[in-house]
Amino acid sequence: MRTTTSIGKTVVAQPPRGTLDRFARPLRDLRISVTDRCNFRCVYCMPAEIYGERYQFLPKPQLLTFEEITRLARVFVKLGVTKLRLTGGEPLVRQDLHKLVAMLNQIEGMDDLTLTTNGYLLAQQAQGLREADLTRLTVSLDTLDDAVFARMNGRGFAVKRVLEGIRKAEEVGFSPIKVNAVVIKGVNDHTVVDLARFCREKGYIVRFIEYMDVGNLNGWKLDNVVPSQEVIASISRVMPLEPMEKSYQGEVADRWRYLDGTGEVGVISSVTQPFCGDCTRARLSPDGHLYTCLFATLGHDLKTPLRSRANDEELEERVRHIWGLRDDRYSEERTSMTGSTAGKKVEMYHIGG
Ligand code: GTP
Ligand code: 5AD
Ligand code: SF4
Ligand code: SF4
Repeated sequence: MRTTTSIGKTVVAQPPRGTLDRFARPLRDLRISVTDRCNFRCVYCMPAEIYGERYQFLPKPQLLTFEEITRLARVFVKLGVTKLRLTGGEPLVRQDLHKLVAMLNQIEGMDDLTLTTNGYLLAQQAQGLREADLTRLTVSLDTLDDAVFARMNGRGFAVKRVLEGIRKAEEVGFSPIKVNAVVIKGVNDHTVVDLARFCREKGYIVRFIEYMDVGNLNGWKLDNVVPSQEVIASISRVMPLEPMEKSYQGEVADRWRYLDGTGEVGVISSVTQPFCGDCTRARLSPDGHLYTCLFATLGHDLKTPLRSRANDEELEERVRHIWGLRDDRYSEERTSMTGSTAGKKVEMYHIGG
């Protein structure tokens, strides 16, 4: 059955169950940012000229402990979450992350746990993460061109180091491995086909992401966005593609496969084809605030009740209440100007991608 949601998007309808927001979108995914620190300074997230070496990140006592994160995750799973993703900042800069993975893996009712990393520390941590029973992961890699990559990561780091991380992840058994690339006009759009070809040869699933106006500091302009349609057209000219069905309802990527059966590519078109109608994602910041949208201006404090001995039922009630009031649909309302929201938007490195 197909139906139209209250926010005007056609979806394949599953009767929504669990904790619903104002548009009847269930709470299904929790993205947990474990730190706001990062060893990169990507131009689209944490530009180096603003976030120099001495930028003040959250002091350690403000970060949720692994026990606190696990307790909150359990509450979210009770409310209907089945998918957890660890993000940052860069999650692998948080010490002993594999221990958190092992703890989250014990939660009953959760059926997908994954991680997004920039890959810089992956070679040394892949084995430990795999042993903690993480099975799949996503690595951000915007281009294979060293000069372009150095410019985009803001630190002059080479592609080779990230590729070594991916190779190691493959060697210890991660599958599937996804690669995320943000495409910015005039910066890396000329390297898209090379990255697609490389990932096809290696069996990685690459997803090209439209550059978004997240945060307040990346100087986003609509003119810098390369529509996904153009990305698909460029790849398809060299390696013909055809569209595929989504693999689950609410998947953010549109999938395409090579006609010769050698793999798939995804595009995430949050600017040209927003997907708010299906958005089931909640985001937890490193200091325990709940954000109901990537572009939210305000987080809801869960750390204070957590640390002032609220019991699980009280935490559950608070989250249910927050989600019940949710009416976010920023990408559907976006204008060509960024900064169209009333307050300052949360930064991407605070709540992850
Ligand atoms: P899978 O679980 O592997 O399917 O991953 P995913 O499709 O959830 O994708 P991932 O977590 O890798 O997200 C990829 C990118 O899509 C993020 O880095 C963001 O740039 C963008 N994205 C993800 N979720 C949202 C969202 O809710 N809103 C918007 N506007 N963009 C999002
Ligand atoms: N636009 C699109 N995607 C972004 N990401 C971070 N900032 C942006 C942005 N401005 C995505 C990247 C990154 C992940 C954590 O979030 O894919 O790797
Ligand atoms: Fe770090 Fe990821 Fe932001 Fe890049 S996008 S600066 S890797 S948190
Ligand atoms: Fe969800 Fe907000 Fe992204 Fe829309 S803009 S898909 S509501 S996170």
